[in-house]
Amino acid sequence: MRAGGGGPRSASPAAPDSSAVLVGGVNSPVRAFRAVGQEPLVLARGKGAVVTDAGGRRFVDFIMGWGALLLGHAHPSVTQAVRRRLTAGWHLGLTHEGEVALAQAIHEAMPSVEQIRFTASGTEACMTAIRLARACTGRSKIVTFEGCYHGHSDGLLVKRSAGVPETIAQETIVAPYADVQTAEAAFRRFPGQIAAVILEPVAANMGVVVPPRQFLQRLRELAAQHGSLLIFDEVVTGFRVAFGGAQARFNVTPDLTVLGKIIGGGFPIGAVGGRRELMRRLAPEGDVYHGGTFAGHPAAMAAGLATIQALQRTRPYARLAELGGQLAGGIRDAARRAGIAVHVNQLGSMLTIFFSDHPVTDFAGAQRADAARFAHAANTLRQDGILVPPSQFEAMFLSVRHTPRMVERAIASVSRALR
Ligand SMILES: Cc1ncc(COP(=O)(O)O)c(C=O)c1O
Repeated sequence: MRAGGGGPRSASPAAPDSSAVLVGGVNSPVRAFRAVGQEPLVLARGKGAVVTDAGGRRFVDFIMGWGALLLGHAHPSVTQAVRRRLTAGWHLGLTHEGEVALAQAIHEAMPSVEQIRFTASGTEACMTAIRLARACTGRSKIVTFEGCYHGHSDGLLVKRSAGVPETIAQETIVAPYADVQTAEAAFRRFPGQIAAVILEPVAANMGVVVPPRQFLQRLRELAAQHGSLLIFDEVVTGFRVAFGGAQARFNVTPDLTVLGKIIGGGFPIGAVGGRRELMRRLAPEGDVYHGGTFAGHPAAMAAGLATIQALQRTRPYARLAELGGQLAGGIRDAARRAGIAVHVNQLGSMLTIFFSDHPVTDFAGAQRADAARFAHAANTLRQDGILVPPSQFEAMFLSVRHTPRMVERAIASVSRALR
């Protein structure tokens, strides 16, 4: 990595050379900043809504652990809960009380989750949900939607990665997001063969795209009518778009729910949950295998429970939505003044700026947006000490630690970029 120079492509002089020992300088591709033509940033600390890089430069953070940190970095109650856990042993290797407490808290927030299985990542949880759906229905095909991301298992990365065997790819049907007709056609074309429909009930991985409620409702009906399972991947939306997730916000109940991110308070986690009769197919009660050395890790359980309890106590959703509205509205106004076509998709504390003259309602629309303009804006923000996800296809996330003043700064920086 280059050092010094002070320009937007330069890393901090004190930053270690991450690319010598890490592939592309990162452990997850989007962190490389390649989509916006920059170098990876090497961070040292996070507190509240601010992160500090290895050279001591501070940034207002709108990445927020890719959505995991709704309470911000190093929240005092989470810190205290994890500290308490660490002194009592952090990897017990058998069931411990923290798992039961977090499962209970999630069940109370999301009644459709009668039983739960914790995993170490959202990827694992999606993979397990699909295997469970296949076993419960005795079918093999799954319907997914363009632009949704469900982690990096083979069957959920079709057409997005080399190394996915054709035999696995054939079992995945990919439909355009929010397109009811194509989903209906898939059920007509493969009668009795579709095990599950899996989707992000609000998409965050093509940038934010909020579907009409009727889309979710129609998928609910289709799945029920054809004996398939409806899986909501609420890894991002769970405890973010409402305390009870998208299923509460849109009042559509899936058969299985996948969770991650916020339920671990920033520690590695995933979970699959749903009706007892479905969940009971998992080993050891049933014949569907899932296991994990770190599944239900005590530190993640402690951080997740402290997070959910703080959210329940403080119910920050109205304030977060106001702040999200302030950010989206400010960017729209700045774009109008600059005469540049922009659509900002926002729901509560998540949003994406699309440089497009059409509303973005699906992945094709997101791909048509002007990526060069997005990169320019992201780079201007970074120069101004504000971090946004370095890709058009990610969401900006607010936390309870963001302030109207921080949002004003971000709007001013976007205005500068637009000029
Ligand atoms: C909606 C969704 N599902 C699943 C995943 C995978 O989760 P993880 O990165 O914990 O494996 C992600 C990750 O960003 C996600 O956004």
